[in-house]
Amino acid sequence: MRSWRNRWLWTVLVSIIWLCTIAVLYLYLTRRESPRIRNAVHELLWWTDDLHWNYDEMRHCGFDTCRVTNNHKRLHEARAILFYGSNMKVDEFPMPRSGRHLWGLLHEESPRNVPFVPYTEFLRHFNYTSTFSRYSDLPLTTQYLPHPSDLTQLDYQSTFLNKQRHQFNEQLASVVFLQTDCNTMSGREDYVRELMKHIQVDSYGSCLHNRDLPEQLQNDYLNNLYSDALLRFLSPYKFMIAIENGVCEDYITEKFWRPLMAGIIPIYFGSPSIRNWQPQNQSAIYIDEFPNASALAAHLQQVGGNESAYNAYLGHKFNRRQPIQNPLLVNHLLMRGYQMRRSGELSNEDSLFHKFECLMCRRAAWTDQRRPANKRHYNCPLPPVYAPLEQQKEPKYAADWRSMMGVGRCQAQLLDAFWRANIPYTKAEFDARLSEMMEQNKCN
Ligand SMILES: *[C@@H]1O[C@H](CO)[C@@H](O)[C@H](O)[C@H]1NC(C)=O
Ligand SMILES: *[C@@H]1O[C@H](CO)[C@@H](O)[C@H](O)[C@H]1NC(C)=O
Ligand SMILES: *[C@@H]1O[C@H](CO)[C@@H](O)[C@H](O)[C@H]1NC(C)=O
Ligand SMILES: *[C@@H]1O[C@H](CO)[C@@H](O)[C@H](O)[C@H]1NC(C)=O
Repeated sequence: MRSWRNRWLWTVLVSIIWLCTIAVLYLYLTRRESPRIRNAVHELLWWTDDLHWNYDEMRHCGFDTCRVTNNHKRLHEARAILFYGSNMKVDEFPMPRSGRHLWGLLHEESPRNVPFVPYTEFLRHFNYTSTFSRYSDLPLTTQYLPHPSDLTQLDYQSTFLNKQRHQFNEQLASVVFLQTDCNTMSGREDYVRELMKHIQVDSYGSCLHNRDLPEQLQNDYLNNLYSDALLRFLSPYKFMIAIENGVCEDYITEKFWRPLMAGIIPIYFGSPSIRNWQPQNQSAIYIDEFPNASALAAHLQQVGGNESAYNAYLGHKFNRRQPIQNPLLVNHLLMRGYQMRRSGELSNEDSLFHKFECLMCRRAAWTDQRRPANKRHYNCPLPPVYAPLEQQKEPKYAADWRSMMGVGRCQAQLLDAFWRANIPYTKAEFDARLSEMMEQNKCN
């Protein structure tokens, strides 16, 4: 009896010891594990973003996970600081910069709102960029082309004969213009005004307006770049003016893709390297190949009156065997990690912001030095370039744009000086130094 009880006590004792050992081991292991996990998650901090609310969340990017926030108080913990180009202000950068901080710049727009961006003095402080340039770390060159099949599908294609018939029956011009931003660095309105002296142009936007859009399209066309109704409405035209609001390498917007989608020949001016991105060897008429608007108009008359000459521009529609012959374009479209919806919106999971966060998240784990961003990441000819006007005239606002970009040059140089010294500065200090530099003409 006694020995039985002893044995029982003995078993209980051993079990308790076992349980304690396991508990201690468990606690030890989890304690040890948790800081390791915490250290592996890098923090990304949006310094300037597009949001009006605070957020703080985990971003899962393949094998990597990062904490992404826009809470400025976490500057100390952050591994990478993210900037959204259009919302940057000269006096709102986190200074002094820690040697640990990677800077990332997301800027998909032309320099019209932030004139200091195209300068090396500014760009070289960023470790990674995502811009329209093919040389950036996450190139957005085709961001305005919703889907490759939109280039080749025939839903909106109107035959040459049909276009002729519309033109005759509805008194349409052969050229359509649809723009509401009338003061551009590229002198868009000035050029179209000259073109109108030589060929009829139907202008539906507020710039050089001479014809009204159907009512159902009037509110639609700015928000819905590629609506079915709009593409259908445009398709009877033979040519469409496609002049970007600014000239930068690889800066290409819906102005180029939309006519291509609708089976209309774009009359293009903008990215100097645009020919690298067209679907076939000859998919658009390029303004920079003509000395002036009158020579362009003569060419339009000729192509617009000759079916085989006209259709030669529409290989992406009519060459069913090989509609997209440009290997660079095909490759880019296959590799790009984003896609805009037809509505012009990016879906949430495809949003440029998420893609950019994931780029930075992956790079945050890298420890090697790399070359900083340079001019090729955001390459706009300076001073601004514009479409060729008769008698070498300048566009009406050319001087304003030039002086704005001149201020941008000064701002970039001053930012460079402050950032290299790595000292905090106030807006007042910045402005005082800036006007001093401008007055003394020190920014050349
Ligand atoms: C397009 O141009 C490239 C380079 O200039 C040339 O190699 C190719 O044969 C051309 N393709 C066609 C279909 O003309
Ligand atoms: C039409 O254009 C083609 C070239 O695409 C040319 O060979 C032909 O002579 C032109 N026809 C007329 C009537 O100009
Ligand atoms: C990031 O860029 C800064 C400024 O150009 C540079 O000093 C720093 O070494 C870069 N960091 C890495 C990891 O390349
Ligand atoms: C346009 O360019 C052509 C060809 O260089 C020239 O003959 C013509 O005189 C120019 N027209 C105007 C209005 O400048």
